[in-house]
Amino acid sequence: MSWWQDMVCYEIYPRAFADSDGDGVGDLSGVTARLDHLKDLGADAVWITPFYPSPLADGGYDIADYKGVAEDLGTASDVDELTARAHELGLKLIVDLVPNHTSDRHPWFEEALAAGPGSAERERYLFRPGRGADGELPPNDWQSAFGGPAWTRVPDGEWYCHLHAAEQPDLNWRSRKVRDAFTGVLRHWLDRGVDGFRVDVAHALFKAEGLPDAGPGQHTDPWRNHLMPYYDQDELHPLYREWRALLDTHPAPPGAVAPEDRVMVAESAVFDPARLARYIRPDEMHQAFNFAFLEADWNAAELRRVVDGSFAVPGAAVTWLLSSHDAVRPVTRYGSLRRARAAALLMLALPGSAYLYQGEELGLPQAEIPVDRIRDPLWERSGHTERGRDGARVPLPWSGEEAPYGFTKAPPSRTWLPQPGDWAALTVDAQLRDPDSTLRLYREALRLRRAHPAPDPAAPPTWLSAPGDDVLAFRRGALVCAVNVGSTPVPLTSLALPGHPVLGSAPLDDAVLPADTALWLIDPLSSEGPADDPRH
Ligand code: GLC
Repeated sequence: MSWWQDMVCYEIYPRAFADSDGDGVGDLSGVTARLDHLKDLGADAVWITPFYPSPLADGGYDIADYKGVAEDLGTASDVDELTARAHELGLKLIVDLVPNHTSDRHPWFEEALAAGPGSAERERYLFRPGRGADGELPPNDWQSAFGGPAWTRVPDGEWYCHLHAAEQPDLNWRSRKVRDAFTGVLRHWLDRGVDGFRVDVAHALFKAEGLPDAGPGQHTDPWRNHLMPYYDQDELHPLYREWRALLDTHPAPPGAVAPEDRVMVAESAVFDPARLARYIRPDEMHQAFNFAFLEADWNAAELRRVVDGSFAVPGAAVTWLLSSHDAVRPVTRYGSLRRARAAALLMLALPGSAYLYQGEELGLPQAEIPVDRIRDPLWERSGHTERGRDGARVPLPWSGEEAPYGFTKAPPSRTWLPQPGDWAALTVDAQLRDPDSTLRLYREALRLRRAHPAPDPAAPPTWLSAPGDDVLAFRRGALVCAVNVGSTPVPLTSLALPGHPVLGSAPLDDAVLPADTALWLIDPLSSEGPADDPRH
């Protein structure tokens, strides 16, 4: 079994994590100084979102130099220090690789614009003539995932494709130059000691030959994503095999994991389990994010269907996540902190690995961002109908009674995004003092999860019978989990759960499993139990 199969990986969005130099923007030294927080939480790995030079048209996912470090975040030696500190604490480091598109300020795109139609420089991107009498219409009907057409016209009349913001031109992955350059990027970060990569929009790099129209209903139902001509093309897979072979063999510097222990995780918004499984065949990616779980409603039948579907392919590397820098915070999405806490215990009891996003362990709600501070390109591209993802990217509250809550020495007016005024009780410090806080719940859950690992993280949980439609009950080894997603308490006698209770997402009652509550039990008699259970 590899370490990542049941890891807990903590996602850091660096500009909102911790600021070390007082400019109001989180930075790499701020991360290094606060890595103990992850260690104390019980994480195994950290994934840090892009810290490369970027004009910030899309929060750093518009990269102008894949081997550099953004000035506002620090220097190359700050990355080395972060890496060394993570390894010293026993944390693996995963960095973001963004291969689908560059920034429009990347030298390649600037060269392509200057060189003009038909040039070799334009071959790195998807430039095409337009349709209509004067080429005044986009080359096809593709829509950007952020709203509006996926094409922008340049002054000489050609159009270029961008599945996200116009400042993020899509690369042409059939270009040998592009392919070779990214091999160089992977080598660069491996040489600096990273332990793995998270591959951004890994389902989008290749577009169907001839760029055919996609038809109506684009970006409306993620379960249809694999049918789009710009997603999930077969040509992706030989590329991922090439990268995997590189990861498996490229020598590791001191401190980093051995090549065979590296991990590559796909951000692939492909929901169909059989299609998603293709990214994680044994010689491709190690893992793929399980967005079907994140998107599932607070409904027992749906959650069970998603869990079962996630194990549909034998041996699949299963992952779980409830939040990310792109998702509405679970407290807000599910409608209450109570449900978000129950969902956390559900997720952390499932076999497989879990991805946490900074602030999830604090139970932060989605923040309201005043219009004049919105950064997300979704706001503009949706014609001011979608406020976007900034509400999940607000600087973390560490301590103190008022904004900036220990995040920075800068005044609150200068923080990366504004923090709400009522977060004093949500700071790390305040939650450490409160035995019932969400932070304490996560810490205890991670401790128990580690003490009672799944015998096989790739095998589905064993479902236990439960009355009614609202309770999910299952076991993974000695750990038993029951979740009541309904609004009425369920008598514990009707559940007949094995083992003794060890943790609840809400105050426990001897007689019932309350509404919107998860309960963990340890069953010392479990034949599936681990050898380290003291009662064995
Ligand atoms: C991924 C990132 C998201 C970004 C998009 C375009 O989905 O997680 O933040 O906007 O890719 O790079």
